[in-house]
Amino acid sequence: MLDKIKNLLDELNGFSATTLEEVEQFRIKHLSKKGSIASLFADFKTVPNEDKKAVGQALNELKTVAMDKVNALKESFTGAEFGKSGLDLTLSGDPVKLGSRHPLSLVRNEITEIFARLGFTISEGPEIEDDWHNFSALNFPEEHPARDMQDTFFIEKSPDVILRTHTSSVQVHDLQEMELPIRCLTPGRVFRNEAISARAHCIFHQIEALYVDEKVSFADLKQTLTYFAKEFFGEKTEIRLRPSYFPFTEPSAEVDVTCSLCGGKGCNVCKGTGWLEILGCGMVDPNVLELNGIDSKKYSGFALGMGIERITMLKYGIKDLRLFFENDIRFLEQFTAAGF
Ligand code: DAH
Repeated sequence: MLDKIKNLLDELNGFSATTLEEVEQFRIKHLSKKGSIASLFADFKTVPNEDKKAVGQALNELKTVAMDKVNALKESFTGAEFGKSGLDLTLSGDPVKLGSRHPLSLVRNEITEIFARLGFTISEGPEIEDDWHNFSALNFPEEHPARDMQDTFFIEKSPDVILRTHTSSVQVHDLQEMELPIRCLTPGRVFRNEAISARAHCIFHQIEALYVDEKVSFADLKQTLTYFAKEFFGEKTEIRLRPSYFPFTEPSAEVDVTCSLCGGKGCNVCKGTGWLEILGCGMVDPNVLELNGIDSKKYSGFALGMGIERITMLKYGIKDLRLFFENDIRFLEQFTAAGF
């Protein structure tokens, strides 16, 4: 009996197959109910008692070898080695959830990059200001309505301390602290005592540009605006300047660009006019230069300021400003920077 087992073991070990079909025949021959191993097990009862232990062990080993052989051969044909452990290395990995930048940050970055190409560097100023930096040094007359409690957040106990209502306040810091020529860009958060609605918020963001040097002219301002508009809204974009008033610039203008959604034909967003207002600007009022210790006979400059929320809403067709502040991931994850 032991010899029979030994022979069969040699046969099993020496077996190899070229098709799955051959493996199946091998399995039937040796491992089925009427197979060679089952018949050896059937003969086991004839084995003398004293040999039962050794024969039993040999039989069990034979069966294990046969089963391993069949499994190994099957796997080599089906390529299912990984299936056995439940591990399939061909599956793609678990998706890693990537965060996305806030649309306001994307637009701020894009604007600062455009101005950086013109040589503007970033300057930042404090959000908590005094009346001088936010108003007086910018040539706001005492009785100007922007100083009303309506618009400005005051600190009750010391009304000279306010939350800046615009990034123009940083112009004052720059004019006083930087060396001429000044060519800087100020992105920042500003605060106004406004009721929150789809079009207004008490906290929002602006970007301010300031350029002061000898012989800076309105033509420089216009060229800078044209360059920015084409870079940001597209090559075909045109600009138009409408006369306006700001205490700190003279002359002052508001700037419109041709509507990037309808190409100037007129649509819902531009209310049929073909134009979108994007910013305020002007030549720095000589009073502002003098108030900040700069000789207005020698130096001139231009300034411009825009609301980042407004530009972002125009760029992405967003209708409600409150979405920027709700931090709803379903809204935020829709925005990706070009190149990401
Ligand atoms: N500070 C103005 C505002 O908040 C915007 C502005 C207008 C800024 C004209 C400027 C400018 O620098 O020249 O409404």
